[in-house]
Amino acid sequence: MAPLPISSIRVGQIDDVQELIKFKPNKVPERFIREEYERGVVVSSLKTQHLHHQIPVIDLSKLSKPHNDDFFFEILKLSQACEDWGFFQVINHGIEVEVVEDVEKVAKEFFDMPLEEKKKYPMEPGTVQGYGQAFIFSEDQKLDWCNMFALGVHPPQIRNPKLWPSKPARFSESLEGYSKEIRELCKRLLKYIAISLGLKEERFEEMFGEAVQAVRMNYYPPCSSPDLVLGLSPHSDGSALTVLQQSKNSCVGLQILKDNTWVPVKPLPNALVINIGDTIEVLSNGKYKSVEHRAVTNREKERLTIVTFYAPNYEVKIEPMSELVDDETNPCKYRSYNHGDYSYHYVSNKLQGKKSLDFAKILN
Ligand code: OGA
Ligand code: NI
Repeated sequence: MAPLPISSIRVGQIDDVQELIKFKPNKVPERFIREEYERGVVVSSLKTQHLHHQIPVIDLSKLSKPHNDDFFFEILKLSQACEDWGFFQVINHGIEVEVVEDVEKVAKEFFDMPLEEKKKYPMEPGTVQGYGQAFIFSEDQKLDWCNMFALGVHPPQIRNPKLWPSKPARFSESLEGYSKEIRELCKRLLKYIAISLGLKEERFEEMFGEAVQAVRMNYYPPCSSPDLVLGLSPHSDGSALTVLQQSKNSCVGLQILKDNTWVPVKPLPNALVINIGDTIEVLSNGKYKSVEHRAVTNREKERLTIVTFYAPNYEVKIEPMSELVDDETNPCKYRSYNHGDYSYHYVSNKLQGKKSLDFAKILN
């Protein structure tokens, strides 16, 4: 997440979405209005339920007692989820509801503060930490209907302490507690993912070194014309794993691209949404997919998500794992590279579907 040279980037006027709707609730400025082709085809929620077109649900309580029938059945479900969807929800994940609700509360309090207060933690052009809009690199680039607040969490070297807010008073404490729990969850999930790929349990953990963890809070205010805008542009995540928490009673907002159709992800109570990032796609030689996703907004309701990105240390060399490559039947699809270089590449380009991963693809 190294910053880019700021002087070379002209981003133009970036309106703060919460301020926009405060003063002109029915107006959507031109810079937020998307071309028709960008808005895309959506399977309605009703239809998705009937078609069982919902992302799989993995019950982590079934994975806590290893190696009985339930365990292997759940691992199989996990493996299918990662192959077919790149997304799943986890239930019975063991993280206390108080920890989850607490971070939601401080995040909401943060976004509710006056703009001058939030502006004390600015996301400078070309950087991805702080308050503002990330991934904007030109004056004519369309904006997302979203305010973001992002922070590097671990290891300590990626933190920018000036951006950790002093208000709300319990923000840092709450985020630290939450992040510890999510880190443990990511480690657990990576073990199960390793098992599902036929690898030894510690395989990812051993190669990741001191894993990088960052958090982004996305606040999507209501929009008078939700059909004209996007909450968050289509992208895949550069991480290994992403953990997405949708605030309690959230409306549907996240959509994933499946068979050329945008499928809404219906939040389940107390569940977390997990997705495979580009890094696991590469390490698994494409067996597990980092799937393109986006967020849409709602006419009446706001939406808040807290998103954790978990990735290998920047020093780590990434390439398809030798156990998962076979010259005859499954040739290597990605080149080897340094994870820090990929992260830099990822944050220095606008979000554009799965384009970032061209960086690693071996083209025949
Ligand atoms: C992200 C993301 C979706 C959402 O932050 O990378 O995909 O619903 N967010 O907030
Ligand atoms: Ni994402």
